[in-house]
Amino acid sequence: MSGGGPVISARPTTAVHPPAKRDRADPCTMVIFGALGDLSRRKLMPAIYQLMKEHLVDERFCVLGVGRDETMTDDSFRAEMHKALTTSDEIRGVDKELWDALCKRLAFVSADLSKPEDYSLVGQRLADIERGRPREECNRLFYLAVPPSVFEPIVTNLAKSGLAPRTRTPDERPWVRIVIEKPFGRSLESAQHLNDLVLGLFAEHQTYRIDHYLGKETVQNLLVLRFANSIFEPLWNRQWVHHVQITAAENVGVEERGKYYEEAGVVRDMFQNHLLQLLSLTAMEPPPQMSANAVRDEKVKVLKSIRWLTPETINENTVRAQYTGGVIGGKHVHGYTEEPDVDPDSSIPTFAAVRLFIDNWRWNGVPFYLRSGKRLKNRVSEIAVQFRTPPHLMFGETSGTMRPNTLVLRVQPNEGISLNFEVKVPGAAVALTSNVEIAPVDMEFNYAEAFGEVAAPAYETLLLDVMIGEATLFTRSDEVEAAWRVVDPLLRYWEGNKPKRMPTYAAGSWGPREADELIEQDGVEWREPTG
Ligand code: BG6
Repeated sequence: MSGGGPVISARPTTAVHPPAKRDRADPCTMVIFGALGDLSRRKLMPAIYQLMKEHLVDERFCVLGVGRDETMTDDSFRAEMHKALTTSDEIRGVDKELWDALCKRLAFVSADLSKPEDYSLVGQRLADIERGRPREECNRLFYLAVPPSVFEPIVTNLAKSGLAPRTRTPDERPWVRIVIEKPFGRSLESAQHLNDLVLGLFAEHQTYRIDHYLGKETVQNLLVLRFANSIFEPLWNRQWVHHVQITAAENVGVEERGKYYEEAGVVRDMFQNHLLQLLSLTAMEPPPQMSANAVRDEKVKVLKSIRWLTPETINENTVRAQYTGGVIGGKHVHGYTEEPDVDPDSSIPTFAAVRLFIDNWRWNGVPFYLRSGKRLKNRVSEIAVQFRTPPHLMFGETSGTMRPNTLVLRVQPNEGISLNFEVKVPGAAVALTSNVEIAPVDMEFNYAEAFGEVAAPAYETLLLDVMIGEATLFTRSDEVEAAWRVVDPLLRYWEGNKPKRMPTYAAGSWGPREADELIEQDGVEWREPTG
């Protein structure tokens, strides 16, 4: 539940804040494996366009798209990418001059990446692009925008081809960096195997495992909120925090991704990565400095402190469910088992709620409730830190109706922060004999309102970071494995113990009744995030 009372706005202390300065990328060629796929069209191209618009890529930046389509030429690839940009909802219109500049930098080569011999075709095009450049400027960024089933053969073939040599130090030039999309593995074992393989071929400093939630402005702001202000940190522990709720709700269904989702389910799709990232940033200790390794060290410690779920504790701490048909935005939508490419008897969960505990000094005994689902009422992701009620309330009957203070970090939409607290309603006297009227108010900080601009989409931030060599917002090998260690027992238990009747929730609701019961046992309720 949100406070629902009057709202007080928080504004920046300077009237108009100029956009933050961002570093410009090194010259490089970005090789996109899977350049004709959905990710490349929907996320990567708009991010590249935007980076060019903001003059953040170098004049020598080029993109070499690689895909299987043998009929595709440079020109038809450019036409496809232009179409992708014009239909993108990440950018507002395609500027002709900018497109002309970008278009010249796009090239395409058809290759079957499962065949080692096809890498020489990629090599030839790369050589054409890099011809005449000083060697130290021939930096290469390989982006694996391909299904996880082909990660292994591709990284192996890529390394063998000699196109992506291992570098000894992060400072070596030219650099070679490999970006690997999620999901990184489908279990702890497969993630370990993939890490062993990748790190046998490339150095950790060359490997960028992407989790786009880390590119979201509010997620990054979590560290600033916590560690650049002195008022929150003293309260950020078991003494003052009653519980934490982390929600990543979506109103979309599985769309055209039924096949993938049947393999993944909500735990692999959202918990192993996005939700556990939000949890570790919320719960971590202050790092000694803001370096990639220092931040990641602290996140790993949190992940390793999460109490393991066991077959004995899973039922009392978790809920899984599937959406049935319902109404969203006035339109009737299908249930999960009626979606294309989904087994009508599927027991893959599209919703999960989990109660986790972090067994360390700071958080001992504080429940972290995590939930995520498709086809929920609204698209909203947030972290809500609920503080304890004051130890003694002396406001007569009103005391019983007071709500505990809650600090909400809204990841999306309307990125911002709100703090809910109680105030005295004007008029009535504060006297021991009377019931003082008290009302909740929200103190609001909204990014767009305060800074006059919507934050850069996550892929834009992350792509620039790869080109700069900034790895803080990418997950390290041990971090990925530590996150798998948390969800692996749950996945194994659920997959080995199919429910006799899968709990369901109507599309357009906030999830199954069972999720409410899970949290109500502790005397709390899920917030209804308003977005
Ligand atoms: C992706 C998942 O990682 O995150 C999708 O695979 C999900 O299923 C998406 O829809 C949610 O991202 P966002 O940025 O829309 O919250």
